[in-house]
Amino acid sequence: MAKPTSLEQYEEKFSRSKEMFGKAEGMVPRGVAHDAWQVSPFPLFLTRARGSRIWDVDGNEFVDYFGGHGGKMLGHAHPVVVRAAQEQMEKGVQFGTCCDLMLEWAGIIQKLVPSAERIEFMNSGTEAVLYGVRLARAYTGRKKIIRFQFHFAGAYDAVTVGYKKPFEVSVSAGVLPSAVEDTIVLPMNEEAALEEALRNRDVAVVMVEAAGASSGVVGIKPSFYQTMRGLTEKYGTLLLFDEVVTGFRYSPGGVQAAVGVTPDLTTLGKGITGVMPGSGAVVGKKNVMEMLLFKDEHWNRYQRVSHFGTFNANPLCAATGIAYLNIIATGQPTQDANRNTRKLRDGMQAKLDEREIPGCIYDTNFSVLHVYLGKCDLQGQCDRVVCLNAGKERSSEVGQALYRNFALQGVKSAPRGFDFYVSAVHSGEDLKRTIKAFGNSLDTMIEEKTLK
Ligand SMILES: Cc1ncc(COP(=O)(O)O)c(C=O)c1O
Repeated sequence: MAKPTSLEQYEEKFSRSKEMFGKAEGMVPRGVAHDAWQVSPFPLFLTRARGSRIWDVDGNEFVDYFGGHGGKMLGHAHPVVVRAAQEQMEKGVQFGTCCDLMLEWAGIIQKLVPSAERIEFMNSGTEAVLYGVRLARAYTGRKKIIRFQFHFAGAYDAVTVGYKKPFEVSVSAGVLPSAVEDTIVLPMNEEAALEEALRNRDVAVVMVEAAGASSGVVGIKPSFYQTMRGLTEKYGTLLLFDEVVTGFRYSPGGVQAAVGVTPDLTTLGKGITGVMPGSGAVVGKKNVMEMLLFKDEHWNRYQRVSHFGTFNANPLCAATGIAYLNIIATGQPTQDANRNTRKLRDGMQAKLDEREIPGCIYDTNFSVLHVYLGKCDLQGQCDRVVCLNAGKERSSEVGQALYRNFALQGVKSAPRGFDFYVSAVHSGEDLKRTIKAFGNSLDTMIEEKTLK
């Protein structure tokens, strides 16, 4: 009998997930609740998670590298964070006005993030981006915004262009052309193009995913941070760092603390609680954030930025956020996650090299690892840490094959199969298993001709 293919093995090993996906399709359009969770022929359905491990409905255990979409530096269900959440559940989760814990939570963020002179809490990264843009437009009195090619910024209408080619077309139907007509999308790292776009002094904000597109898949030249800061100041435009993933991961103070460039506004999300649902904040310079102040009647009605939200700064997020960020603030989790990432990077790169497969494993100097399989136009011209090759293709067919092959060996990458969000609690054994699984996956993919 012929050996089953990896696809057949996936269907067999994860049969309960397959069944659940079949049922889900009759209830939840497309069977998943987030576009990025879609995996062919079906995604895994999971039941619980602890530390670096996660379990599916068939009882399989995986080393998890998606970690709450990148926000879980301390792994899943960290005991200190769980205790804080449990205690707060007993005390209540929404008081209809400010809770006492809001001050302590805001104080930690203020200390850690250089741009956080003021903090406005909200419920997700998407909301943070929406209000970041709104504040910038209100403050500057300008309409246009600048984004960079391939940068992701969540679901707000105005940022649904730029993430995917063709860059000028929204990734979603139902978005009005008028919602995106003021969004300019530029190539990253090109100073002349940025200056040209700013010259008319009609751009409210330059928005940048702080470590580069999709947490560094396409990176940012170190000198370009200063370039963006200098040019935005020159033309009266605000600079916004989207630190929804990098916020407390790249360093305890985010990319901005590490590169020494302070933006006017910063968007934060899951990272402010270690992924308690309902986390988000816009933080920024006092003068910009004061667009939220109540003043006289005319200002309040015609000039200020209004902000509502039942769950803003809710006690449950505040309690978990304090517990989580106090651990992050020590700096140890960043060091541990970075060290784990380097080990994984070197081990996985060795598997490519042993097989003479062209490709690169890189981490943009923090704890998100990316796999690129293929020849690179910039080979020999880069440091293999920050990838500046914006033209490289990452086939979703290959990415999903990689995801499935990893899953068969007890490793769960991000659904694209090419990205790994490494935490401080991944153990040496986790890393070893992952490196071995990568080598085996490559062999299978060559054998099955997924990898040519
Ligand atoms: C850089 C970036 N911005 C914004 C968002 C949107 O955040 P949320 O999913 O909390 O709406 C994400 C989500 O992962 C993100 O990675």
